[in-house]
Amino acid sequence: MACNMHKTMIAFSILWSLYKASLSVRFKVVSGPSVVATLGSDVLLPCSLTPEMNAENMEIRWFKITYQPYVHLYINGKDDYTAQMPQFANRTELLKENITRGIFLLRIRKVTAQDSGNYYCFVESTEHHGVATVQLQVTAVGSPLVISVITEDTVFCESDGWYPEPYLIWTDNEGNKVIPSMEKVLKDEKSLYHILSAIYLPPTSSNITCTVSSSLNQSKQSSTQTIEMRLPVTCRDLYSRYIVFWPSLVVILMLLGYICFLLKRLGKLQRIYVNRNLRAGNPARISQSEGIQLTQHHC
Ligand SMILES: *[C@@H]1O[C@H](CO)[C@@H](O)[C@H](O)[C@H]1NC(C)=O
Ligand SMILES: *[C@@H]1O[C@H](CO)[C@@H](O)[C@H](O)[C@H]1NC(C)=O
Ligand SMILES: *[C@@H]1O[C@H](CO)[C@@H](O)[C@H](O)[C@H]1NC(C)=O
Ligand SMILES: *[C@@H]1O[C@H](CO)[C@@H](O)[C@H](O)[C@H]1NC(C)=O
Repeated sequence: MACNMHKTMIAFSILWSLYKASLSVRFKVVSGPSVVATLGSDVLLPCSLTPEMNAENMEIRWFKITYQPYVHLYINGKDDYTAQMPQFANRTELLKENITRGIFLLRIRKVTAQDSGNYYCFVESTEHHGVATVQLQVTAVGSPLVISVITEDTVFCESDGWYPEPYLIWTDNEGNKVIPSMEKVLKDEKSLYHILSAIYLPPTSSNITCTVSSSLNQSKQSSTQTIEMRLPVTCRDLYSRYIVFWPSLVVILMLLGYICFLLKRLGKLQRIYVNRNLRAGNPARISQSEGIQLTQHHC
């Protein structure tokens, strides 16, 4: 009985020392939750070990979707680019300055839209391994907005080179939203977004503002463009008035001329008639004839 007790004690102490030894080589891999980088800039992705320990002789593998090909690999004390994703060729660097303290950041140069997404930092020693995730968010503010009046009542606004997917808002003088009549978001070969929108001009508004923003808190507002709504309308009104006025004047003048001509002819006839009547001795017609002569003078 006592012998059995002794054996159990020995077994327990062996297990305990093994556990303590394993604790000393165990580590946790730590990275950031997310890193934001503007398109074309250089970015540092964090990765470290806790507790602090020398990682010089460990395998450090940064990968994105697949374990291999990888984004970056450090193995047997040096970098290995043999199975690197072509997308990252010549753009990655593992900073080893503090590797003996378990800190090794990954530098990615000239980030592209395709670089965005989750990165895994996988660390393996002879006894243990661990992994941590960090999200890289790439942002790009597009080209200056272009507002153009295509037809009399339709206004377009567009911009390209956005990342991530942007959204567009139209506002009028009072800052009220204007519902677009058309909106398109396209993706180019570099995974950047092109946004295009159109509105029918609200009849009461002269200044229309187009604003494009992307979901990561970077936004860009267009320079406010004034669209003089009243001007073309007033012009058209004036024009139409001229159109009505001038032909009417011509018609009236022509009519007056024709009436005068008719009256003259009538007057001649009347005079002939009066002369005849006078000769015939009928005075009743004379006053009428004079009346007509008077009207003729007015013309
Ligand atoms: C890698 O980058 C270096 C310097 O940044 C440059 O000299 C070299 O030509 C590049 N190689 C490739 C394959 O792009
Ligand atoms: C290494 O650690 C030192 C001291 O904390 C720090 O100043 C330096 O920036 C670190 N270098 C890298 C590449 O992390
Ligand atoms: C329209 O914009 C112009 C110039 O930006 C400004 O002077 C004018 O007051 C604006 N008009 C209205 C109605 O907001
Ligand atoms: C954008 O978000 C970051 C944190 O995610 C914050 O520190 C920064 O002030 C924000 N910028 C703007 C312009 O809202």
